[in-house]
Amino acid sequence: MTQSPKVEKKQNLLRNKSFVVETIYILTIIIITILILLDFVDTGFFLGPYRFSHWMGIIGSSFILVFAPLYYISKRRFPKRYKILINLHIFGFTTAFLLVSIHLAGQLSRPLQFYPDLGGGVALYIIVAILVATGYLYRYQPIKLKSGKTLQPHTNRMLHVSLIGGLYIVLIVHIVLNFLLV
Ligand code: HEM
Ligand code: HEM
Repeated sequence: MTQSPKVEKKQNLLRNKSFVVETIYILTIIIITILILLDFVDTGFFLGPYRFSHWMGIIGSSFILVFAPLYYISKRRFPKRYKILINLHIFGFTTAFLLVSIHLAGQLSRPLQFYPDLGGGVALYIIVAILVATGYLYRYQPIKLKSGKTLQPHTNRMLHVSLIGGLYIVLIVHIVLNFLLV
């Protein structure tokens, strides 16, 4: 007996290794972030001159700052390498999301007497989270409407690409205000 196209499509997505790994990866990031926020994991210890959570912010952001333009150029210059590039894009940026989530959770779980002034950093995290969410929705299109069609994939792509300028501006301001001018 043949299965309905709807069931078949769902199974196809579950057979997509990239989708399964990425979904588990994102859920793991959410769990790690919650564990740090609830103080089950300490990220405030020093590694050389900075705290561990700071290093995570620095490494994650450096990857984002360097790889975003590199990807934009490389995918146009080397279209035959697209498969490698998009995999690097998905898993590289998700790893950057893991690192900046550790930085964010480390900041938000600081003792009250040393609590940071929340502001730009939170906005920055929201931008990165929306980038990951729209990238995921656009790449895998996991949400189907009742009609069987996907939610407007172009909206996700438009949001994804248009947020990148904002990401750069807020990130550079965050680094200058919290790091270089202190
Ligand atoms: C996407 C990347 C990043 C995110 C989401 C992020 C998020 C945050 C958040 C939420 C805070 C708490 C204060 C606030 O809301 O502004 C914070 C503080 C801080 N961040 Fe980041 N950050 C990122 C990247 C970086 C980078 C690259 C650096 C260093 C080069 C950095 C250095 C700092 C410092 C030094 C503080 C402490 C400020 C204080 O003590 O008042 N952050 N970050
Ligand atoms: C900080 C995180 C991210 C940044 C800065 C970022 C940046 C970019 C850039 C620069 C483009 C190219 C736009 C163009 O060439 O017109 C793009 C496209 C895209 N991104 Fe992301 N991205 C991020 C996260 C993600 C994640 C986590 C996924 C998937 C799970 C993803 C999936 C995609 C897809 C499917 C495209 C369209 C394909 C393409 O243009 O080659 N992105 N993103």
